[in-house]
Amino acid sequence: MGLLIKKPMAILMKEASSEDSHSLKRSLSALNLTALGIGAIIGAGIFVLTGTAAANHAGPAIVISFIFAGLGCAFAGLCYAEFASMIPIAGSAYTYGYATLGEFFAWIIGWDLILEYLFAASTVAVGWSGYFSRIMNDIGFPIPAALANAPYKVEGTHTLVSTGAIINLPAVLLVLALTTLLVVGIKESAGFNNLIVAVKLTIVLLVIGFGFMFVNSANWHPFIPPVEVVDAATNTTKFGWPGIFAGAGVIFFAYIGFDAVSTAAQEAKNPKRDLPIGILASLAICTVLYILMALVMTGLAPFKTLNVADPVYVALDAAGPGLAWLKYLTTIGAVAGLASVVLVMLMGQPRIFYAMSRDGLLPPLFSSVHPRFKTPYVSTIITGVVAALVAGMFPIDLLGQLVSIGTLLAFVIVCAGILVLRYTQPDLVRPFKTPFVPFVPVGGVLVCGWLMWNLPRDTWWRLLLWMAAGLVIYFFYSRRHSKLQQAQG
Ligand code: ALA
Repeated sequence: MGLLIKKPMAILMKEASSEDSHSLKRSLSALNLTALGIGAIIGAGIFVLTGTAAANHAGPAIVISFIFAGLGCAFAGLCYAEFASMIPIAGSAYTYGYATLGEFFAWIIGWDLILEYLFAASTVAVGWSGYFSRIMNDIGFPIPAALANAPYKVEGTHTLVSTGAIINLPAVLLVLALTTLLVVGIKESAGFNNLIVAVKLTIVLLVIGFGFMFVNSANWHPFIPPVEVVDAATNTTKFGWPGIFAGAGVIFFAYIGFDAVSTAAQEAKNPKRDLPIGILASLAICTVLYILMALVMTGLAPFKTLNVADPVYVALDAAGPGLAWLKYLTTIGAVAGLASVVLVMLMGQPRIFYAMSRDGLLPPLFSSVHPRFKTPYVSTIITGVVAALVAGMFPIDLLGQLVSIGTLLAFVIVCAGILVLRYTQPDLVRPFKTPFVPFVPVGGVLVCGWLMWNLPRDTWWRLLLWMAAGLVIYFFYSRRHSKLQQAQG
């Protein structure tokens, strides 16, 4: 009944060339694309969530969580790479879904991607606020706790309780400031991105290199702490192998962003070859760095002390005066690096809204372009205001888990999509082919599905609620206004 209607490749290609032929130059090399991926990946996941996940879920074995989540991302990344080479036009999993799986799946992915982009912007902004508050504190201008923390936190397994704080003001102000920049139109510049990436990589490499010299290996024992019961009534535990998998679901967040490489398809010199390189190389580099960084952090300080807003600082602090210089440098690097991730996310979301609106699945307002600034200002402002509110109200762990489950769902659909297409449309031209099919896509579905399964039940409920709202919008609005459906009468 039209649910699986697909957007013809010819139309996609035509739209792509007419929209951007005047503005975008094909200037990005494989190296630039890899830098773009690293810029979007390294953020609050490694700088904040590693600490909370080690303290609350896995202990030093958070290192194993990183390996496991990295495996799921590798499978998903290989599938993304096939899509990106097959449909090398700016877009995202939403566009891939529309061209290959049909409108209904495209909608589900598009709606789900709001969790990945908009909510990730909020999550990383909250992470940024933690490091920013540390700097203000260190230079003698402490921000009152009531203005730098979420008014709500999760207690026990699912109750939201008031913390006494009023709002996370730094997080709100960051999102609003970056939104203003995006409305006025900053020129995305590969040069600037490369600089920020260089700063982030330098910081991470310094922490790994110098950190290893100060590791107290007693902190790694026991590497897998024995299971502890958190709440006997709900059978909630932490640590042990269940804790490792729960931790993997949480720090999966740290890997999100490699798919952002695909949004630069139209600026890539040789997209069919270089998009897969950018996606897979950025992912591989970050996986290695994350595993080493997690080892260092849990080796420097007892993992229970890392349940803070700025665990890298706390870990370096535990090493004593020898690493004092590095902890200040890291804080400054984190503030610059995390802000750049928020920017990428705030930039990505309106592009997806824009594409969905152009297809008629969202109201035309979402694709209106500012007459002077030439930016999709309405969707940028809507994204910014919602992201700012969310960042001001909620704690990072709750947000991070919601982003993780949403992104994992998108990955599951992408992996399943690759498998389905190999059988239903074997003749499509695939410049990059996912290796070891069906092992890799099936592995992606299983590992990402398992990571989802291990996230708290409440996160599942929030996801289901979100998707249910999406279905209502689809059937009452999008399906009726879909340009493709109308064209087919
Ligand atoms: N992977 C990104 C981060 O950790 C979203 O901030």
